[in-house]
Amino acid sequence: MGRSAFVGIAVSVALLAFSYKFILKPHQHNKPLKLFTPQELALYNGTDQSLPIFLGILGSVFDVTKGKSHYGVGGSYNHFAGRDASRAFVSGNFTGDALTDTLHGLSSSEVKSVVEWRDFYVRTYKFLGWLVGRYYDDQGQPTKHLKAAEAKAARGAQLLEKQKSEEEKVPSCNSKWSQDEGGEVWCDSGYPRLMQRPVEIALTGKASKRCVCLKEEELENPGLEVYEECDYLAKACKV
Ligand code: HEM
Repeated sequence: MGRSAFVGIAVSVALLAFSYKFILKPHQHNKPLKLFTPQELALYNGTDQSLPIFLGILGSVFDVTKGKSHYGVGGSYNHFAGRDASRAFVSGNFTGDALTDTLHGLSSSEVKSVVEWRDFYVRTYKFLGWLVGRYYDDQGQPTKHLKAAEAKAARGAQLLEKQKSEEEKVPSCNSKWSQDEGGEVWCDSGYPRLMQRPVEIALTGKASKRCVCLKEEELENPGLEVYEECDYLAKACKV
């Protein structure tokens, strides 16, 4: 082999090694690193001090050993170790059946929050591979449940943006609260009204209202409430 061919091959090998380590993202779906079964993952729940601690979220498995104070035995978040308890990241319920990977019935903003937790683990800990089950099949391919969760989270993000831009169109009331005087809302310009947040139900599953300042000609618009015991044209209302 000629010298230049040898150098060419050596450079190619070095480039390949570099791109494998630094360019190919471990999160891409077509190249499984390692597949875990739930039983195997459970071994790494912090009980055996000689083993590292692993955690699953949305079927992605991370080495969280460096967060031993949180995830080790006696740590506040030990229940996340050795399993995928995706739902508990938003429910805050770390007991019994609540430690489950199903997100069934959660709102789009809650599902978005679980996906953001997964992003946190991607940023903070070493990604190891996938848990075979709800979110990845035995080939390491994402299941319809993962795709549905990611789509719902994306919809949550969209709705949140929409809510923000809708809210920017109508000014919010000023508000203050004190132990002695209780709460008060007021408008520098316009009149305070309670207004249903338009996309809130789709986003969180619950209705919610905010105080807005409206011009006199807007006061007959639908979906508005006058504060209790507040005059129709009052500038300030006790709440
Ligand atoms: C839904 C409820 C909650 C969930 C799912 C949750 C989850 C977590 C997780 C996973 C960590 C570890 C992050 C890491 O690996 O570094 C963490 C850390 C922490 N959490 Fe929570 N948490 C919740 C509520 C709370 C509440 C209510 C408080 C305070 C009263 C709190 C205070 C903390 C503190 C102080 C840390 C440690 C930060 C550090 O030392 O780096 N958490 N939380």
